[in-house]
Amino acid sequence: MKNDFLWWRDGVIYQIYPRSFLDTTGSGIGDLNGITDKVDYLANLGVDAIWLSPINPSPDVDFGYDVSDYKGIDSKFGTMADFERLVETAEKANIRIVMDLVLNHTSNQHPWFLSARSSRENPTRDYYIWQDAGPDGKPPNNWCSVFGGRGWEWDKKTGQFYYHMFYKEQPDLNWRNPRVQTEFLDVFKFWLGKGVKGFRLDVFNVYFKDAQFRNNPTKLFGRRPFDRQVHRYDYDQPELTGVLNDIREVLDGYDAAYAIGETFLSTSEKAAGYCGDDLLHACFNFEILEAKRNPQILMQKILEWENALGDVKWPNYVLNNHDTVRCATRFGQGEEDERMKVMAAMLLTLRGTPFLYYGEEIGMRDIRVRRKDILDPIGKRYWPIFVGRDGCRAPMQWNAEPQAGFSTSKPWLPVHPNYKTRNVNAQANNRSSLLNFYKKLLAFRRSQPALIKGDFVAMDVNLPQVMAYKRSYQYNTLFIFLNFSRKALVITLPVGRKYKVALSSKERPAREEYTGKMGLMGDEALILCE
Ligand code: NOJ
Repeated sequence: MKNDFLWWRDGVIYQIYPRSFLDTTGSGIGDLNGITDKVDYLANLGVDAIWLSPINPSPDVDFGYDVSDYKGIDSKFGTMADFERLVETAEKANIRIVMDLVLNHTSNQHPWFLSARSSRENPTRDYYIWQDAGPDGKPPNNWCSVFGGRGWEWDKKTGQFYYHMFYKEQPDLNWRNPRVQTEFLDVFKFWLGKGVKGFRLDVFNVYFKDAQFRNNPTKLFGRRPFDRQVHRYDYDQPELTGVLNDIREVLDGYDAAYAIGETFLSTSEKAAGYCGDDLLHACFNFEILEAKRNPQILMQKILEWENALGDVKWPNYVLNNHDTVRCATRFGQGEEDERMKVMAAMLLTLRGTPFLYYGEEIGMRDIRVRRKDILDPIGKRYWPIFVGRDGCRAPMQWNAEPQAGFSTSKPWLPVHPNYKTRNVNAQANNRSSLLNFYKKLLAFRRSQPALIKGDFVAMDVNLPQVMAYKRSYQYNTLFIFLNFSRKALVITLPVGRKYKVALSSKERPAREEYTGKMGLMGDEALILCE
């Protein structure tokens, strides 16, 4: 199995939000050298790749998701030499780098936009989406910004509107312009040339909008104006396919290069539709991340995802990211982590590539930010209905020292007050910690062909609180039982064989064999082998 190991299919990818990982300069902001310093930690944890949220120069209106230079490194994170050192150090530890490419829009400070808005005749004018006002001076259509308000911003100087799906400081690019396409194919090549192995494509399915700028149909219900539209014309346009083909062609020219798309407003079917041999290798489907902690709902979503992808396209699973309240905050009870072990066991034993988000392995909880301290502009705008995304972006908790060992000065976001007890150091020294369970699971996953290559079959154990499935590959078969309740339960094992415990989130006697019926402890994740 070792020889045909394909990192993005068989491995595990760990997302780092660089601002919050480790600050080595005392600026209060994490940096690339901080990540390099922790490569050993990541190798020891057992991950195969790191996805870095954007590190390109950015005015930080959307904390890196507004890029002003696609081939640069933001000086707050370090230099290109620091980046190269990170790639090299990671490579030595068998860890690949996945870059986040934000290609639907630029920052309004990108030189392309600065020149585009300087005059209508400027050669980069057509890099963006400009439209005249309607006869009444209103925007050309009803498209909204997902971050609030209308999607069109008036540019007084040149007398036209430009379109932005996100903040007005993030003007959308005109992907119908072949020069934009060429610029970006070149950006892929640039980073591949630096040793980057993969890309996460921010909201790739928004690249194209309707060529005729038709109004989206409206509907009655929905919280924000954006939600009260059927988004027929502002994303998921058929022209996207050609561009995905071109991106794939570039990637196929490099060894094991990979792209995963962030599917905006995803469904299983939609995400699966963008994966393929001449499309993207993978796409995120957020239906599972958004689902309740209910084994039946989760299983239904998993089966839908499996079904949509079929045998050839490869699944991926994610429970956390930089846009969502952490899973431990959504599902955890107080400071206890038993439920998180069950979630981790699910994530790491399903068929597909697991994605972890920094701090998930120690069960980091979201911080609470007072209204006056909110940094995320959508939080400022929608408070208290939506407090923004600062909560899940707090500094990594390394140890019990001031600022959790993240920085020597005041961090850009506060450290969670639980850091004195919830931190990497403390958990490394505690055999039954969540961190050690993640490590155990990651090592176990690597050693079991059934978990990496095996098929996935849902099992019905007649207990609504339990998720059960079988993974098997050749002679390696595993049975996974996840108890989503606190209650101890009795499961009926498939007849005719003896089973041994391969791994449990609880203490269990070693080498005991089970037949017929078996007790499952409350909040237990149990993996049996034959
Ligand atoms: C999706 C990213 O995940 C999010 O953080 C960002 O705000 C938007 N895209 C806009 O780039």
